[in-house]
Amino acid sequence: MSDNDDIRSRIRTIPDFPKPGIMFRDITTLLLDPEGLRLTIDRMAEKVAGDIDLVAGIDARGFLFAAPLAIKLGTGVLLVRKDGKLPGATIAEEYALEYGTDRIAIHADACAPGAHVLLVDDLIATGGTARAAVRLLRKAGATVTQAGFVVDLPELGGADALRGDGVDAFALTAFE
Ligand code: PRP
Ligand code: ADE
Repeated sequence: MSDNDDIRSRIRTIPDFPKPGIMFRDITTLLLDPEGLRLTIDRMAEKVAGDIDLVAGIDARGFLFAAPLAIKLGTGVLLVRKDGKLPGATIAEEYALEYGTDRIAIHADACAPGAHVLLVDDLIATGGTARAAVRLLRKAGATVTQAGFVVDLPELGGADALRGDGVDAFALTAFE
């Protein structure tokens, strides 16, 4: 068994969702499985290098991994939300998705200047979402050098693009 096959085998693929041609990598089956969920958080924590001050999770599926990982690392959680959901003063960025466009936002005062922030999401595809989150976090004064994902879709180039932005991206498994 290769690394993380026990996690990969718990992720279901739904063809043609949300539109024809997309192979949707569905982590709901991983989340339903207590052992799968525990292994995922443990393995993500093992991949984190150095000291982290905050874990930033991306709306919505990223939150499910960011909060337990933050508890394990002994940090708080910073919410990167879809624009229009946060009540305080925000900064926002628009980005392109594999299927559409969207805007994300963070509270402008969400982190202390220089705080080491680990970005977390369930999946990286084109990297549009994660790269916009990195731009936002850096605008807010954060130092962002690591990002962790459960799933990478390497053909879409997001993890490589993040590395080009100076962010060391890791994922537990990849789907070609
Ligand atoms: C999905 C996924 C990532 C993003 C990856 O989120 O959870 O956040 O797309 O795509 P990208 O690398 O091409 O930007 P989605 O916007 O579908 O939101 P959800 O978590 O609310 O389902
Ligand atoms: N987000 C963007 N692309 C995705 C995919 N292929 N499967 C699941 N979530 C996604």
